Amino acid sequence: MKKKSFPYQHGFSPIEQDRLRRQARFAEQTLYRDINFSDCKNVLEVGCGVGAQTEILLRRFPCIKTQSIDLNKKQLSAAKQHLDQFKEFKGRYKLSKMNAVNLEFESNSFDGAFLCWVLEHIPSPEKVLAEIRRVLKPGGVIYLTEVMNHTFFLDPYSPNVWKLWMAFNDYQYDNGGDPFIGAKLGNLLTAQGYKDIQTNVKTWHFDNRLPSKRKEYIEFWAELLLSAKDQLLEAGVVTEEIVEGAQRELKNVAFDPNAVFYDSIMQASARVY
Ligand SMILES: C[S@@+](CC[C@H](N)C(=O)[O-])C[C@H]1O[C@@H](n2cnc3c(N)ncnc32)[C@H](O)[C@@H]1O
Repeated sequence: MKKKSFPYQHGFSPIEQDRLRRQARFAEQTLYRDINFSDCKNVLEVGCGVGAQTEILLRRFPCIKTQSIDLNKKQLSAAKQHLDQFKEFKGRYKLSKMNAVNLEFESNSFDGAFLCWVLEHIPSPEKVLAEIRRVLKPGGVIYLTEVMNHTFFLDPYSPNVWKLWMAFNDYQYDNGGDPFIGAKLGNLLTAQGYKDIQTNVKTWHFDNRLPSKRKEYIEFWAELLLSAKDQLLEAGVVTEEIVEGAQRELKNVAFDPNAVFYDSIMQASARVY
């Protein structure tokens, strides 16, 4: 049975907010390679968090203005503080507190929409996609980037990391989120009547060919996993022993001369007519 309100497992601490900013920069090349808003003027960003992707959108597409929404006030004030630093963005962005399942915009308001790591946290992704379809103008484009946590692989085998990872995914799933949603984006978009749907699996696979990148990715991924540790401990779904074991194993794997890191995500795009 799905619960109504989903406890966001990463939390809203300043450390987590900083992690979101580093995550956005870290993944920028991979994510934005296939995103093109250069024909757009007004782009809706759903679940903007601390404005890390907003910054990239405004920098990469000087033609656009963004309207970014998030459900959480702390994220929005961090986003405002972050974006206000960039004089060149003045007058180009708006931030509003809003629930993605009930967008307070007129129909046909935007020519682009952007979501990144958001649908996985919302118990009714179909409502969000229906709302975005309503507020997009005919010809409008949507880009979504979402996780596929079932694809993660780490070698050498690290039992506590696996236990923590399984608990992380179960916790999200049991509370109404969906850590596997990336693979379902094609179906979700089709069900809401989107057209020209494209899905693109993007993979980070690092081994002995790129040891320093591998170490960087393992450390980045460790931060993501450990960002949920307090909530998982509080919920009683992992023990201190598992968390400490996972921390130890992640350090060892990062320095292992034969480590393998593998993780795939899904990026989808579609249009409305
Ligand atoms: C993992 S963060 C991603 C933030 C940003 N897109 C990025 O890539 O840095 C997910 C964000 O979605 C927001 N969120 C969750 N449920 C939401 C909802 N129903 N409506 C709007 N925002 C929501 C959370 O508050 C959080 O800031």
